[in-house]
Amino acid sequence: MSKKVLAIYYTQSGQLEEIIDNLISPLTESGVSIEKVRVRPQVSYPFPWTGKDFFAVMPDCVQGVPTQLEPFQLKESSYDLIILGYQAWFLSPSIPSNSILNHPSFQSVVKNTPVITITGARNMWISAMERVKKSLKDSGGKLVGNIALVDRHPNPVSFVTIFHWMFRGKKDRYLNIFPKPGVSDEDILHTKVFGQTIKQYLDKGEWSELQTDLLKQDAVRIKYNLMFIESKARKIFAVWAGIIVKKKKRTPWLVAFKYYLLIALFIAAPIILTVDAIFFKPFLSARIKRQKQYYSGVN
Ligand SMILES: Cc1cc2nc3c(=O)[nH]c(=O)nc-3n(C[C@H](O)[C@H](O)[C@H](O)COP(=O)(O)O)c2cc1C
Repeated sequence: MSKKVLAIYYTQSGQLEEIIDNLISPLTESGVSIEKVRVRPQVSYPFPWTGKDFFAVMPDCVQGVPTQLEPFQLKESSYDLIILGYQAWFLSPSIPSNSILNHPSFQSVVKNTPVITITGARNMWISAMERVKKSLKDSGGKLVGNIALVDRHPNPVSFVTIFHWMFRGKKDRYLNIFPKPGVSDEDILHTKVFGQTIKQYLDKGEWSELQTDLLKQDAVRIKYNLMFIESKARKIFAVWAGIIVKKKKRTPWLVAFKYYLLIALFIAAPIILTVDAIFFKPFLSARIKRQKQYYSGVN
């Protein structure tokens, strides 16, 4: 009997859709029929964003508040595999991704079903993925694979270029000087390789070694500095979100958060990373290795 696969995701720019299309192409080419569902919020998020709208979604992202999605119908009552595309917003699952995870239709099919997650992020997706993992676990889904595509340029460079992309709506080179933002075309194309591996496991119906094989193909790369910054920033974002949601007038607080973010990234992070590199990192190599292994895995 032919296998039933659901690929469900949200995308604003279309980047995540391109990634999903490449991922599933080896499956569709070999005759697997895939139900592809691109969800849309009932009130769509602006793209390109304005600065105000962009920062306004931070508290709900961080606090995991879902939004209403346009109604969608799944064709099957169960699947052999679910591919969930999600993106990180403010170190959290994007509001639409979180809304998929909480949606009754998704919840009704995810129980006891193998799930592969895939993201197209700037470069900080670990905390968002931890929350996706928890949500899947709570719904009874079985996470069997995870793929994280990122912008591989240095952190400050991708910070500048993503804002150019998000605020102009075009994935092109800022001032013709900076590199293209987001996940590179090569990495998007390379996603097909993961699809071929997934196909083999789908045929077997046994998933225990999938993530090991995906890792051999470079499906996840954990960079220490980014992991370190993210682990600190996640907690600080939660404090900001907690403060901002209690304010009647959020705008001045969101502006303050924006400036905090700029100072944190361009001034505080390099200092903290230097101190860490001298005084702490050299003595924590075993712990760092364990953390990297954990975040690369699906447990
Ligand atoms: C509001 C907002 C916040 C974002 N925050 C993060 C983040 O914390 N970490 C990250 O790696 N990327 C972040 N991104 C980038 C997205 O994860 C994603 O790469 C980009 O929006 C393109 O996705 P798309 O397929 O929906 O167009 C953010 C994007 C938006 C719009």
